[in-house]
Amino acid sequence: MAFIFKNLPADRDDLRVDVLSGLASSPKSIPPKYFYDDAGCRLFEAICRQPEYVLCRTEQALMAARMPDIAAAIGPVDCIVEPGAGECAKVRLLLDTLHPTHLVVMDIAGAPLAAAAEPLSRDYPDLAVTALGMDFIHDLEAAMPYLPAGRRLLYYPGSSIGNFPPDAATALLARFRLLAGAEGQLLIGFDLKKDPQRLHAAYNDAAGVTAAFNLNLLERLNRELGADFVTARFRHYAFYNPSAGRIEMHLVSLVEQDVNVAGQCFHFALGETLHTEYSYKFRCDEFSAIAKTAGWQRSAEWEHDGFAIQLYG
Ligand code: AVI
Repeated sequence: MAFIFKNLPADRDDLRVDVLSGLASSPKSIPPKYFYDDAGCRLFEAICRQPEYVLCRTEQALMAARMPDIAAAIGPVDCIVEPGAGECAKVRLLLDTLHPTHLVVMDIAGAPLAAAAEPLSRDYPDLAVTALGMDFIHDLEAAMPYLPAGRRLLYYPGSSIGNFPPDAATALLARFRLLAGAEGQLLIGFDLKKDPQRLHAAYNDAAGVTAAFNLNLLERLNRELGADFVTARFRHYAFYNPSAGRIEMHLVSLVEQDVNVAGQCFHFALGETLHTEYSYKFRCDEFSAIAKTAGWQRSAEWEHDGFAIQLYG
């Protein structure tokens, strides 16, 4: 059926503005959404295949095993909306079971999203697919005109919500509430607190794929902002911080150095860190409390091997 792709460009040069302000701040930091250029998307897919990083496989196994219950709890749905849909692979299980008439997918990486979403309109002939290349974190509301009326299900899998600090996660969930509409529901997957050694291993895989994913951020800045980072002068460093309940990912400077980015010079002391990502882990009750503050009421929950999926209305 119909396939529409729209690029909704941001009204400012986000990458340049955010990177320059992140490098000027103390401690230095860059938002994790900038991991996902083409190379970063491919590296993230490779992370999901690493033996230590079971998050994606566990979630898919849980979805597949419990789909009849999940579908029954959700009930009839007209439109599935997936922010950050990436490869558009996870949503297929829901399409197979819920048979909505519309699917709206969004991702900051517009071209890979279009390539992944277009085949869905061929594989599901009765489904109208709209792919929006957009930064939904900034501009979520810009998706509103593309959402048909009717019962909407917002689908936010993969523990992406864990990449936001608690206040920002609450704010995003509140914006999801508005996007879903009065009858809307939210199906969300998130990683649970567990043995810190398991968590540590997941972000320090033996093949070095997570390290390459982290360092690709610097390569992206070299490519897109004319920066002169020498990646060998930085070390991927990720650890679980149990008191904060989060993985912290950093790039640590191995030497004292100056780096030029978009015409500005930034000094790194030996051992100075550039923070690149938080990945929060939750208990089920903790997450429900956050969602409740954002206006969502939990209606069902499924859990398996350190991962949870919750349904909200
Ligand atoms: C996308 N997000 C949920 C991943 C995570 O686990 O926080 C990103 C990632 N970073 C390192 N490995 C995977």
